[in-house]
Amino acid sequence: MTMFLVRTAARTAVRTNSCRSFCVSHTHLSDRKGLVLGMFEKKEEEEEGTLHLTEAAAGFDKSLSGKLSELLKLSGPALKNGKSRVFYGLHKDFPCVAVVGLGKNNAGVCGTENWDTSKENIRQAVSAGCRLLQDLEVSHVEVDSCGDAQSAAEGAVLGLFQYDQLKSKKKTKVTTQLHGSADVVGWEKGVMYGEGQNLARLLMEAPANHITPTAFAKTIEEKLAPHADRVTIHKRPQAWIEEQQMGAFLSVSKGSEEPPVFLELHYNGSPDSKQPPLLLVGKGITFDSGGISLKPSASMDAMRADMGGAATVCASIVTAASLKLPVNIIGLAPLCENMPSGKATKPGDVVRAKNGKTIQVDNTDAEGRLILADALCYGHVFNPRAIVNVATLTGAMDVALGSAAAGVFTNSDWLWEQLHRASVVTGDRVWRMPLFQHYTKQVTDSQLADLNNIGKYSRSGGACTAAAFLREFVKAPHWAHLDIAGVMSNKDEIPYLRKGMSGRPTRTLVEFAAGLAHNG
Ligand code: BES
Ligand code: ZN
Ligand code: ZN
Repeated sequence: MTMFLVRTAARTAVRTNSCRSFCVSHTHLSDRKGLVLGMFEKKEEEEEGTLHLTEAAAGFDKSLSGKLSELLKLSGPALKNGKSRVFYGLHKDFPCVAVVGLGKNNAGVCGTENWDTSKENIRQAVSAGCRLLQDLEVSHVEVDSCGDAQSAAEGAVLGLFQYDQLKSKKKTKVTTQLHGSADVVGWEKGVMYGEGQNLARLLMEAPANHITPTAFAKTIEEKLAPHADRVTIHKRPQAWIEEQQMGAFLSVSKGSEEPPVFLELHYNGSPDSKQPPLLLVGKGITFDSGGISLKPSASMDAMRADMGGAATVCASIVTAASLKLPVNIIGLAPLCENMPSGKATKPGDVVRAKNGKTIQVDNTDAEGRLILADALCYGHVFNPRAIVNVATLTGAMDVALGSAAAGVFTNSDWLWEQLHRASVVTGDRVWRMPLFQHYTKQVTDSQLADLNNIGKYSRSGGACTAAAFLREFVKAPHWAHLDIAGVMSNKDEIPYLRKGMSGRPTRTLVEFAAGLAHNG
């Protein structure tokens, strides 16, 4: 079949040879253009071989007098959801055309999956098509909106991302563009959502000797520079953290030679500058060795992404600024390393958080809750309309839900609904978890202090005891804690993300902020 395709392509090429740029000898390998087009599954009652091309694909097919549909029928069985096939030499402008399977038309929101299946299918298919063309070293790809330009753009931008800054051999840089649709606004929105998540992926994937607390803050400052009219940034140094009496945060940072930074971002997008802000707080451990309660070496390298909370929060603020969302957002990221040294906190030490509560640190590897405790206390001065903190907090969260969804612990049904709605749209899901007193009792029973930083029944309900601990530092009526440890990295579960740190749930945070912006 491949032979046939090649021969057909050659013949097609000869027949339309009148255009110079179509001659293979005149086309530089590096500046070939590609096209990604979609097609839906046939309906059950329809006979084999019925094609359902998208609008853009049908238009393209028509311009070639049905050549594309002819080849599609000849080349093999109907394309299954997420599968793709490349045709060469069909069109003078596009030497390579990838056709991708979109599954059922109008699949819509699925109540059991808690996502919009149509949008997920588009992301998956477009990503597969773009990647196929990238492997063929095509440098510019036009993309079918497949009926939802935003999802198509997300699929393209997320699918093509690869962290290869530090490798000599890099993947082809591919630029993308909307094809055959007028929805440029939707496309550009999708590009911004995708690029936002890619910024978080970049920060998370980068090695800890590159992304130190100082380097993290500098990167975010640079990303926000084009939005200086609406954004203020404070990179609070150690002296400020001490003045603030953030004893819990300092107890983590003091084992490391790298100075801590408390990053504070103010995005003033609302026309009403007095509008109470949305407060986003992200765990920013740029490397978690465990401290004196040292982690095992196997997979310790993954702990370079223990700043995933800070990365997704800051990336979502950068994205909100690019989108010019009419909402005020404050972002807080306590940034430091968790390292063992002669100066490090020892198991059994007692430290004092900003709000005066004392904490017995029985396990220095449960450091995320310590730095977040102080950041949450501090955040209340802004009188926020809602507080959302995001953290790669517990291995137990990964055990509970794996990479299917981030766990949400919240005291507010309203906030849960907002976050859940956003996640159905983005496909980057959240799932509600309990905040029972049952768990609170397990962290407030400490021999030496007000709180213990680990639950008294060791690993049981570890994600829930961590959440109960954080709750002791919250007075606000609308607070949610997202434990993103399970969704931190991707092997192959999310088909439109390559293997590596995921940048999840940046798009859900952006969509959530957009919801607050547009619905008051
Ligand atoms: N950063 C880890 C949690 C983590 C584990 C994130 C795996 C992503 C993947 C966190 O600081 C930690 O080590 N938590 C401990 C808490 C325990 C000591 C109570 C854990 O989960 O084992
Ligand atoms: Zn830890
Ligand atoms: Zn950690």
